[in-house]
Amino acid sequence: MAEFTTWRARMGGRNAAPVVHHPGLGWWREARFGMFIHWGLYAIPAGIWKGEPVDGIGEWIMFRKRIPRAEYETLAEQFNPVRFDAKAWVDLAVQAGMRYLVITAKHHDGFALYRSPCCPYNIVDATPYGRDPLAELADACRDAGIRLGFYYSQDQDWHDPGGSRNDWDFAPEEKDFAAYLERKVKPQLRELLTGYGPVGLIWFDTPYSISREHSIELRDFVHRLQPDCLVSGRIGNDVGDYGSLGDNQIPAGRVQADYETPATLNDTWGFKSNDHHWKSVENLLLLLIDLASKGVNYLLNVGPTAEGVIPEPSAERLRAIGAWLKVNGEAIYGTQGSPFPYEHDGMRMTTRPGHLFLHLLEPEAELVVHGLRSQVTGARLLGSAAPVRHTQDRSAAGDVDRLRLELPDLSDCDHVPVVALDLAGDAETDPLTVQQPDGAIHLHAHLAEVDQGPGSTLEVLSNGMTAGWTDTADELSWQVKVFAPGSYEVTVITAPQYETTEVNEHHLEVAAAGGAAGGPLRAARELDTARSQYFPEYAVTLGRIAVDAPGTHRFTLRATQVVDGTPDGVTVFGATLRPA
Ligand code: GLC
Repeated sequence: MAEFTTWRARMGGRNAAPVVHHPGLGWWREARFGMFIHWGLYAIPAGIWKGEPVDGIGEWIMFRKRIPRAEYETLAEQFNPVRFDAKAWVDLAVQAGMRYLVITAKHHDGFALYRSPCCPYNIVDATPYGRDPLAELADACRDAGIRLGFYYSQDQDWHDPGGSRNDWDFAPEEKDFAAYLERKVKPQLRELLTGYGPVGLIWFDTPYSISREHSIELRDFVHRLQPDCLVSGRIGNDVGDYGSLGDNQIPAGRVQADYETPATLNDTWGFKSNDHHWKSVENLLLLLIDLASKGVNYLLNVGPTAEGVIPEPSAERLRAIGAWLKVNGEAIYGTQGSPFPYEHDGMRMTTRPGHLFLHLLEPEAELVVHGLRSQVTGARLLGSAAPVRHTQDRSAAGDVDRLRLELPDLSDCDHVPVVALDLAGDAETDPLTVQQPDGAIHLHAHLAEVDQGPGSTLEVLSNGMTAGWTDTADELSWQVKVFAPGSYEVTVITAPQYETTEVNEHHLEVAAAGGAAGGPLRAARELDTARSQYFPEYAVTLGRIAVDAPGTHRFTLRATQVVDGTPDGVTVFGATLRPA
């Protein structure tokens, strides 16, 4: 697995979305897709320091190698991105179908990528280049109708004696964070918010040490200067205008508030000359669609070179996404997530009032959807005149609403085809989990009713995984509509703890309809899903259960034995039952 900062965002964690909605969120919700740009002095070493490749994300090279500030500063003397062309970058964002752009005005290394009168360590005063790229980008964005936002590292600053985390130049006990906020952070925010026209958002990051008071102070400072400017959730302490999920994080199901996931095209944010691990267009589209289906914005990163060029492998992938969006954009922009709180195998959904969009990840000639209550009044394939026939009924066994679609031949369709359904009214779904057309019964941890003993620390993270499950009295349960009685094989989906690679040997038991299947979390098979490319997931088969009649059944999941000394205890995403 590639190395990433694992920001373990909980719904209601330090990066969480607020309860009060900022009026400026309108454009941001509509946009759904934005360009992140990590650009700075770190593009010069580009992942290689003194001839040695450095592990990890490119912009962290100063921290990783504990490069003294005086030595790192000399990179500025070489920074001369003569090929930088603001219009070309913004054109690429437009071609990609991105609606906003967020660039690193100052990253953790403390270097300002704009003319900063309060601090000479900036691109105009400290480099031979002498131009202000942010001013040029602000003009180009305005011309193209793209919202511009600035990334600003408020907490970590490895250049300023008061910023957090540089303990190789500055003794931690001598740091004065409050003085740093006054000396550098506020003056620079003022510069950014008064010199570049309307700013869509300030993307704060890594709130490692910032206090709640300081988070609120900075947020209010931004709002006083530009009331419509949004503040990202990584301002810390749950006080941002929208929530930020972890880097490259895909939540398990639809989220209930405004969230965004920042994501990479390869494994780094800042340019690394030796990172060629580019995601495929198919994979990138899946992430865009998957996140949209959960109501989450996708902020996709490019890392330009020290010369100012966005690497061609990035550009070509972005253009391919843009080509798909040209045809299918109505299924992404301004949509809400799926009306179902869970994923569908081989398909994702988005909706807007009166419409439901089915994104077909594995298109077949016939498609059946269970649990949609709304009446479908029309069906069409986006970008195609080929007819799509639909019928609806309800199964006698199990009382499950069924929609059946007959699709044209999609074998020469380049990427994910989308079926648009017209609905009589808004999308309405069965409030219970329903058995899927192929017979699968999915028990998602994030949808479970949780029965906790006193003192239990069990919670379900936004990625859908349980944490703090160390109590054998805890129980997860689900009511599921089953239409096909029979024998089912029970598989639990588990994750190792982030720090380890081995699956723990807790014992689990799934029970339903008087039967149970149980066993150790061992002999796992690694899964290959969108989420598991960052955080591995494993399937563990526990045995079989018989369900002898159709109807609504209660399924439970309990830990019958928990290994001591594993602080997260049993980490599972839930269980799946398939006809045996
Ligand atoms: C992280 C990293 C950082 C990167 C960011 C993008 O928190 O510290 O280098 O800018 O994620 O989301």
